[in-house]
Formats: sequence, C-alpha cells, structure tokens
Amino acid sequence: MNIQRVGVVGAGTMGNGIAHVFARNGYGVVLCEVEQRFLDRGLETIGKNLEREVAKNKIAAADKAAALGRIEPVLDRAKLASCDFVVEAATEKLEIKTEIFRDLDRICRPEVVLASNTSSISITKLAALTKRPDKVIGMHFFNPVPVMKLVEVIRGLATTDETFQTVRDLAVKLEKTPVEVNDAPGFVSNRVLMPLINEAIYAVMEGVATPEAVDEVFKLGMAHPMGPLTLADFIGLDVCLDIMRVMLDGLGDPKYRPCPLLIKMVDAGWLGRKSGRGFYKY
Ligand code: CAA
Repeated sequence: MNIQRVGVVGAGTMGNGIAHVFARNGYGVVLCEVEQRFLDRGLETIGKNLEREVAKNKIAAADKAAALGRIEPVLDRAKLASCDFVVEAATEKLEIKTEIFRDLDRICRPEVVLASNTSSISITKLAALTKRPDKVIGMHFFNPVPVMKLVEVIRGLATTDETFQTVRDLAVKLEKTPVEVNDAPGFVSNRVLMPLINEAIYAVMEGVATPEAVDEVFKLGMAHPMGPLTLADFIGLDVCLDIMRVMLDGLGDPKYRPCPLLIKMVDAGWLGRKSGRGFYKY
C-alpha cells in the first residue's frame, strides 16, 4: 500500500512527536486535536524540537520549514478521510480511545490501517470496536519520539501479516527499529519498566533511600540515562498509575499492585514534570 498522507490523532507529548517524525521523513500529516490550544501547543513543540535538530546539524533549516509545511492541523476529525494510514495518540483512557476508534472506522477508507500508540490498552479490544479488526495494530513510540529508536509493534488477535508488515515498513522508513510483540497487558516495554518504577517508589515510601539516591543507583550502577523516579516524572505519574492498573486488572497478579505512594501523589495532582511537581520540583 502506498502511504503518503498520515493522520495523527492527538497533539500531546506523543502525538506531536509522532507527527514530527512522519513530517520530517516526507509524509503529509493531518494532525487532529479537540481544541485549538492543544494544536497550537503541539505545533509549537514540533517547531522547537525541529529547531534542536537544526542546531545539532541533524537537519537543514530548509528541512525544518518543509516538515512544518507538511503538517495540516485540524479540529474536524472528518478531515482524516484523506489519510492512507492513521495513528491514534490520544489520552490513555479506554472510553476515549473507544469513541475515537469507532469514529475512525466510519471516517477512513476500509483499506486504511488504524494504529494505536497506546502503552497498555488491549489492541484486540480496540480492533473489535471496528469493522476492520485485521487492520488494527499497536504502534508504540517512546518519549522523546524524535530521539528514541524503538517502535514496539503489537499484533492484536486478528491483526494480519499484511497489516504487521505495513507498520513494520513504516517504522523503518521513519528510521526507527520495529520490534514485534504480541498483545498482552503492558506489552513488553511497560510489563518490565513499570514494576521497576513501582518498586523504586516502594523503596522511597519505605524509607530505604531518597529519590535522588535511588536514581543515582540506576544512573551510575546500571548506566540508565535517567533513574526510575526521574523517568516516572518524565512519563507522568498518572500514566504510570494507569498502566499499573491495566496490568493488575489484566494479569490478576498482586505483584502489579500500584504503590500507595504513587496513588497518593496522583491524588495530590503531583503528576511529574507536566504539573511542575512529582518526585522532583520543576
Ligand atoms: N526532539 C528532538 N531531539 C531531542 C529531543 C526532542 N524532543 N529531546 C532531546 N533531543 C536530542 C538532543 O538534541 C540531543 O541530541 P544530540 O545527541 O545530537 O546532542 C539528544 O537528544 C540528547 O538530549 P540532551 O543532551 O538534551 O539530554 P540527555 O543526553 O539527557 O538525553 C534523553 C535526554 C534522550 C531524554 C535521555 O535522558 C533518555 O534517553 N532518557 C530516557 C528516556 C526513556 O526512557 N524514554 C522512554 C519512556 S517510556 C515511554 O515513552 C513509553 C511508555 O509507554 C510509558
């Protein structure tokens, strides 16, 4: 299938990063949001991050202008009808994604593959909401999207080989490395990462060490670029909690029980970097 125009639903942290890499690699992008201020913020971030790439001589100034010129910001979801491929990167809530997938199935041509950037919601469940479950797949990018090389490609129960190959080839064209994973709560990335973060939060709650000390252990002892609590703040504590709950619910094993301190911090609105406070102050 010849993919030239890509729809991206959501211009938040992940959506604007996804739009950035598609536009930088020559694809036309229809970037869809529910409010103008979210579109404005997303486009501003894309502009800043493209500028970073210009400053590092990764791209020329003309490439930045061309990439921005390839992005069409829209508020009307019906405009996605012109797209050859759509990736959804909306809020990580099943009710929100349910409404979007039903709508996309109605709007997009029947042969169009619908991908979700979900970090833990069942692809099989999203696929079953549509009349094209064979063409629904997970395309999970990592933050910051322009930098991180991985795309976790998740096959739902009904996803065909053809759909998988379409997404794998697209990831390669975006200069990413696709890794194939089957559908299971948290996939591989969060199945392994979130219990690490959750355990680090238990260590803080139980007074084993300060957040700074926990992070130093992982930076200096395991060569992680960020310690688990800095990373939790970067991802968003609400997102971490949602993912732990999806895993506890889907796998039923108490080892996925979210740490009470994580729940308390989310209740307090201490969501990490985006709210100005998490394990650290920003
Ligand atoms: N856009 C474009 N370029 C960016 C960027 C962005 N948003 N952010 C950083 N960069 C570039 C910088 O320009 C810099 O480029 P050079 O290497 O050419 O100098 C490079 O990335 C490194 O950035 P910095 O020097 O500013 O900072 P750093 O060395 O501390 O790296 C980091 C920052 C890349 C974020 C690094 O700390 C890191 O890899 N952290 C771990 C990130 C991670 O684990 N992400 C996954 C989160 S989990 C997830 O996303 C999925 C989920 O489901 C929850």
